[in-house]
Amino acid sequence: MELFKTKKELKEYLKEKKDAGMTIGFVPTMGALHDGHLSLFREAKDENDLVVASIFVNPTQFNSKSDLEKYPRTPEADLKKLEGEGCDVVFHPSNEEMYPEPDTTEFDFGGLDEVMEGKYRPGHFKGVASVVKKLFEIVEPHRAYFGLKDYQQLLIIHKMVKDFNIPVELVPCPIVREKNGLAMSSRNELLSKSERKQASLIYKTLKFVKVQAGFQPIHELKNHVEREFKRKNMKLEYFEIVDLFTLEPLTTWLGSKNVIACIAVYVGNVRLIDNIILFS
Ligand code: PAJ
Repeated sequence: MELFKTKKELKEYLKEKKDAGMTIGFVPTMGALHDGHLSLFREAKDENDLVVASIFVNPTQFNSKSDLEKYPRTPEADLKKLEGEGCDVVFHPSNEEMYPEPDTTEFDFGGLDEVMEGKYRPGHFKGVASVVKKLFEIVEPHRAYFGLKDYQQLLIIHKMVKDFNIPVELVPCPIVREKNGLAMSSRNELLSKSERKQASLIYKTLKFVKVQAGFQPIHELKNHVEREFKRKNMKLEYFEIVDLFTLEPLTTWLGSKNVIACIAVYVGNVRLIDNIILFS
């Protein structure tokens, strides 16, 4: 496995491979890798000649300094896991390498960034789009792999790729969960044992919502979810039932064909997100 810290060296290495006709699959990450991440690598490995990972904790997508500081960083364990998955190339740049100067690119996400994560984490998606655009320009992959766990992120990257005509195929990958249903996340590392247990309520609730979808009125279902988390002393930041493509909140099931339920909850001090597709 090759490790690069500079854009120049990575680009030179990949140019040779592309000139030789190899296809490149790319998996951008912020490290602290778990089985959710690794599932993306497995899919990339199946579909491409060469798999490139990036590990970069992107400061511009964190809207709180303490969140950035406490984000888990496990570079040595990450490299071992990537090696084990047969990843070919790792890009692990410094902040200066990625942002020699502040990024001034303007993005218009057509309102996709104004709800849910965008509403509670102002500037987050601009930071995500800015780093993913840079990474796409450096790696120029044929395919790039993203988890459905961060569904809103995937939609926003899709819009960015279309708007900037970036020639990459985005491949969405299913959410990988712990045994108790908790969606795998680097942030789970920050949970105590009892918080992990508590956090299983998130997926349990989403499954209940899926069973009720189309039957129980949306406002009643939302009230039920709010009550459940309150009862368990967990701070629910949002629970939304929205259109799968526009992310507009739905008020009725009538005529709704593509629907997803998205949730953000604090378990202790740790903010977790999850979602479930209700209809598609
Ligand atoms: P990170 O949170 O490290 O996630 C990297 C990729 O792994 C994302 O596409 C994410 O959706 C996917 N992923 C995380 N948990 C998953 C799970 N349980 N099942 C399936 N896929 C999962 O997302 C980011 O980093 C950053 O915003 C990034 C795109 C790298 C830009 O900085």
